[in-house]
Amino acid sequence: MAIPSLTEGRGRVDFRFGECLNNSAVTKKIIAGNWKMNLTPAESVQLSDNIQFGLAHIPNSVEVIVCPSMISLSAVNTRLTGSSIKLGAQNMHPAKSGAFTGECSSEMLKAVGCTYIIIGHSERRHVLGEKDDLINQKMITALDSDLNAILCVGETEIERDQNLTFNVVERQTRLGLLGVSEEKTKSLIIAYEPVWAIGTGKTATTSQAQEVHCFIRELLRKMFPSFYGKIPIIYGGSVTPVNVESLLAESDINGVLVGGASLKADSFLSIVKAAC
Ligand code: 13P
Repeated sequence: MAIPSLTEGRGRVDFRFGECLNNSAVTKKIIAGNWKMNLTPAESVQLSDNIQFGLAHIPNSVEVIVCPSMISLSAVNTRLTGSSIKLGAQNMHPAKSGAFTGECSSEMLKAVGCTYIIIGHSERRHVLGEKDDLINQKMITALDSDLNAILCVGETEIERDQNLTFNVVERQTRLGLLGVSEEKTKSLIIAYEPVWAIGTGKTATTSQAQEVHCFIRELLRKMFPSFYGKIPIIYGGSVTPVNVESLLAESDINGVLVGGASLKADSFLSIVKAAC
């Protein structure tokens, strides 16, 4: 079944599609690979080597980030020394340290070379039960720790069918960023990842994605009136070498967060090259 487009917002932001076009002042395209719970440390090193060797030169206009599993961060970091590819983690605990069995802190992630962190991914929200308040605590800690924090937001298929996309995206964005000062948005990235498009092969059409990105930009304008145009809004959900170009051509799509297609050097390299 085709995923319906939205016509008008029903969130608290008074939004009409088309009003906020060309509000992005983001100059870099961000291409991030989320490797999820895949690859051993040796396999991760191999993949990062292959990506690095395939990218002789990354222009200043493109930021390439790889996010291996926790267990592989240290090994991949060693290989990325001297490279302009950045390292990101997929999760962290909001506390600096303490009795939190199985968790990892922002300081630990920084110690193994992470400069990026993905927070509030839909798999953590919907499979592992993370709620907006926990995600907010993680965002506060990440930004206070000078990590670049990628806040993931996005609706389920049912929510889209019920025309709740803007409400959900607005709630997740507002609550995820509660208490975040305008100054801290220098290290903030929003990833719009519609849950129905993740790992399903059902990509949002470019206009469906742009429509929500536009809405998020308008929401950010209300929340952070001075810096809203500079906050990158990236898209995730079945991004491939085939659809990436048209997604990146949209004015408010400032990059992509790639799952499956980031696990093979060839496809990830094609995606990066589409941004260069
Ligand atoms: P896929 O690219 O596999 O759909 O995953 C998207 C994603 O969840 C990136 O964080």
